[in-house]
Amino acid sequence: MPNFVLFGAPGAGKGTLAGKIKSFSPVVHISTGDLFRANIKGDTPIGKEAKSFIDSGRLVPDSVVIDMVKDRIAQDDVKQNGFMLDGFPRTLDQSKALSNIASLDVVVVIDIPKEDLKNRILGRYSCPKCGKIYNIYNDELKPKIEGKCDTCTNTELTHRSDDNEETFEKRWNTYLSQSEEVINYYSETAGLVQKIDGRKTMSYTEEELKQILRI
Ligand code: AP5
Repeated sequence: MPNFVLFGAPGAGKGTLAGKIKSFSPVVHISTGDLFRANIKGDTPIGKEAKSFIDSGRLVPDSVVIDMVKDRIAQDDVKQNGFMLDGFPRTLDQSKALSNIASLDVVVVIDIPKEDLKNRILGRYSCPKCGKIYNIYNDELKPKIEGKCDTCTNTELTHRSDDNEETFEKRWNTYLSQSEEVINYYSETAGLVQKIDGRKTMSYTEEELKQILRI
């Protein structure tokens, strides 16, 4: 079963790309951001601990996120279909912890300049029912009816509380301070890292993505 990581800055397009991959592969999408938001919504102990970190654009402590990912990876659907991690690992310690849990086939690094990211973050809306991601500043990614999901009739789209200008700057700085050592760690294994252009992620065909992911 394929195991891979989608790595990139806030707004690089990890979740959107995962949605595209899900349309042709049963590989399980594990987004640590989504897991935290579900825990916050459910008012669980993990959610209570994570909330202040997320709202202020800081990383949730490694111990919390590593245990959460370990539990998710141990579940049957992942054992059967493999995983695509989105938003994990983000630090060197998380990368090392992941190496002790599972082996990886590919680490996809989505390359994108900062100037493209602000509108992606500020314009992002998503459907709370099906998880589809939209962008109101992009004609191809806009919902057909303003504020509503294209597929879940009458469902109002939501905007994330950390998708504002101030928190974006903090998330970006956090990414800059951690990303190099994560990429360097994976670059030590020849052929593991696959860099892709974040401006082109929407135009990759299924065949091209299968080649990148080696599935
Ligand atoms: P998380 O939810 O992981 O946020 P993030 O990494 O900041 O990434 P995003 O979800 O913002 O962006 P994305 O790359 O998925 O982009 P998307 O596809 O949506 O984490 C949130 C917080 O949780 C963190 O700040 C931290 O506090 C905590 N956390 C999570 N994981 C953690 C960890 N491992 N350790 C510690 N703490 C952790 O796209 C963005 C927008 O762009 C959308 O509107 C989309 O429509 C648009 N778009 C996508 N692709 C394109 C394209 N090719 N062209 C134009 N627009 C596009």
